[in-house]
Formats: sequence, structure tokens, C-alpha cells
Amino acid sequence: MTFNPLRERGIPLDKQLRNWRELNVTPIDPDHADPYTRCRIIAMNGIEVEAILFSHQLARHCPDLELKQQLARVRYIEAQQQKVVNWLLPGLASVLETTIAYEQVAVDLTAWVARMEPDSYLKQAYQFGVLEDFDHLYRYANLYEIIEHRKAEKIVDGLTEVMPGRPTYLHHRDPIDNVREPYDRENTAPISKLHALTIMAAEQQTMNFYMNVGPTYMEPIARQLYQEIGLIEEEHVTHYESLVDPGESWWEMLLNHEYNECYLYHSFMETESDPKVKNIWELHLNMELEHLRLAAELFKRHDGRDPEQVCAPELPAPVTFEPNKAYLRDLIATQIDYTTLGTGYVQEAHERFEKMQEALMGGEKAPSEQVIDDNRTKSGHEYRLQTEGEHPVHSLAHNR
Ligand SMILES: [Fe+2]
Ligand SMILES: [Fe+2]
Ligand SMILES: [Fe+2]
Ligand SMILES: [Fe+2]
Repeated sequence: MTFNPLRERGIPLDKQLRNWRELNVTPIDPDHADPYTRCRIIAMNGIEVEAILFSHQLARHCPDLELKQQLARVRYIEAQQQKVVNWLLPGLASVLETTIAYEQVAVDLTAWVARMEPDSYLKQAYQFGVLEDFDHLYRYANLYEIIEHRKAEKIVDGLTEVMPGRPTYLHHRDPIDNVREPYDRENTAPISKLHALTIMAAEQQTMNFYMNVGPTYMEPIARQLYQEIGLIEEEHVTHYESLVDPGESWWEMLLNHEYNECYLYHSFMETESDPKVKNIWELHLNMELEHLRLAAELFKRHDGRDPEQVCAPELPAPVTFEPNKAYLRDLIATQIDYTTLGTGYVQEAHERFEKMQEALMGGEKAPSEQVIDDNRTKSGHEYRLQTEGEHPVHSLAHNR
């Protein structure tokens, strides 16, 4: 069944405001919920945070009072949506458990996008990034065992493997080398624009989360690991945001944002296993259809173009959280030693990379290496979850 969000009717804007009772949602049960329900919540929170921040940036560039007032009205609803979505997370989960879930989102969402992306340059950008978040998951899982004496399989539930990817200390590149070439808005497939927005928003939320929760830990190794990985998420936001064509007008960007919100709520509604959460995805989709209609009006008025020229004529196949184990193992086997040089990729450590490494490491081990040593000392082993057998890279095989 085809679904064209530009032709659907949603809930009128003045019917979208919710009261305290409606905002006070029941969180998911941390022990019995589908891990991918939690992933959808985390991903959608990132999308709503981006909707809010983008609208604020647009308002700050907008001299027209009436337009600013309309942006404020829609943005307030986005803020309510963000509260409802993020408040589905249970208070019982620790910051580190939520962190592990954030990296699981980064792994399985980016891997899925890489598999589906039709453009080879964009696909390479996702394949490159996913091997790094995959390694973050392994580092945080070891920190979790040190600090909470628990195992990350309780969180990822065997859906995502936990083992080394591209080693985290090698993610620290000269900032120049984190900037990619953008897609061309005139010629790229509409799905490619949606992919780029989605991954950019997810990484931005991860960056924001680590920069805020990192210093709440007392243990020095935890404080240091959040600093290190927080800096890499900054690199990831730079990497993914540079894929978006900066030639898009503000109204075109707004249109793409609202369309993407419709796409993701629709996707999650179609794939959600928890009926209560599914109802929220459906309600929010019906709100977004109206946001999209309003954005389309602004786009027509200010850019003088037809939204159908920019957006997909029907929603693409739903974004799906599912295991990507074989795909990731294949990437690990073939791309683990990649780094970037300018806007491209190379397999050897070049001069600018080495200089950055030297300056940042200051002759010491990175926290991401230290955390594995610490866990070996404390637990007598490092933590891994390899459901599909030995590590695909011989030198990273267990108990080296
Ligand atoms: Fe929204
Ligand atoms: Fe990460
Ligand atoms: Fe990341
Ligand atoms: Fe929206």
C-alpha cells in the first residue's frame, strides 16, 4: 500500500496540544521490553531534538514576526513530542545502560541505512562510521562490567554482537579529514536525503548525551571514556552533516525535516511490537502530517516550487531495526583499517593523522584501551558477546 504523506490529512495544529495527564506516559519495562523498542525510542528522541534545534536556528534567521510565531507554535508541539518519546525510557535504567542502548542504535540503524543507501559515496560514509560506533559499544560494555558488575547482553539481548570494531583510539582524526562531500540536492534520490538527516540527528543526540552525562560519574575511567567517545561523536556529527547539500534553502530543509519525521513515525508504527508504544507512533505521525502540510505551504510560498519535486512521491520501505551481524562482520573483515584523507578514504596512516594522534595521546594510552586493561585486571577477562563465532580479524580474536 503506498502512502504519500503530502496527500494525507493529519490533526489540525490547534488540536495537537496535550495536557499533563496525556504527557505523563508509562515508561517501557526495562526487563521485558523488546530491545528494538528501546532503540526506536532513542532514535525518535534524536529526531525530535533535531526538529526543535533546527526550528530554533531557522527562527533566528527569520525576520518576519508572523512566520516566527508559526514556527514557535509547531516547535512547542515538537517539544511535547520529544518529552513523550524520551519519557518512555524507564527511570530504572542507569546512564551507562542507556549509553549502551545509544550505541546499539548507532550500530543497527547505521548498518541498516548503509545496506539500503543507493549512492555509493554515501553508502561508504555509513559503512565507515558504523565500524566506530560498533567499537564504542564494546568499550562501554567493558566499562559497564567494571562499574556495575553486569553484562551488556542483558541490554542488547544477543541482537547485536559486542566485540572490537575499528579500535576507538584510531578514530581521532584531524578535524579537516572529517568533512565529506555533500550529495547534490538536484540529482540525489529522495531516500538519500532522509538517510542523511536521520543518521545526523541520531549522532547529534549521542554527542549531546555524552557531553552532559559524562561528568556525572565519579570513577576516573568512566569520566575519561565519556570524554574520549564524546569527542568522536563530534567527529561523527561533522562527518554526517557534511553529506547534506548546503545549497538547500531554509524552507527546503524544513520540508525535508518534517517529511523525515513522517517517514520515521510511519516506519516505527509499521514495525513496533509494543501496542502502547505503537499508539504513540501513530498519534505522532498524524501530528507530523500537519507539520508537513504547513512546511509545504511555506516552501511553495517562499521558494515558489512544488514540494513533490523535492520529496519522494510515496514513503520508502520502512526503516527497520533488525540484526545486521553478517553485514557488520563482513565490513570488519574488509574496512577495519580505513581512515579518511580529505573527503576520501585511505588504508594507511598519513602524516596529518599521525600528527593528530601524537598531539592527543600525549604519550599515554587512550581511555578506550585502558578500560579493557582495567576490566581484564578486575574481572579476569574482557567482555565480549560473539554469538556468531570467532572475531573475523585474526589479530583481534579472543584472548590474544
Ligand atoms: Fe516531531
Ligand atoms: Fe558512538
Ligand atoms: Fe557515533
Ligand atoms: Fe514535526
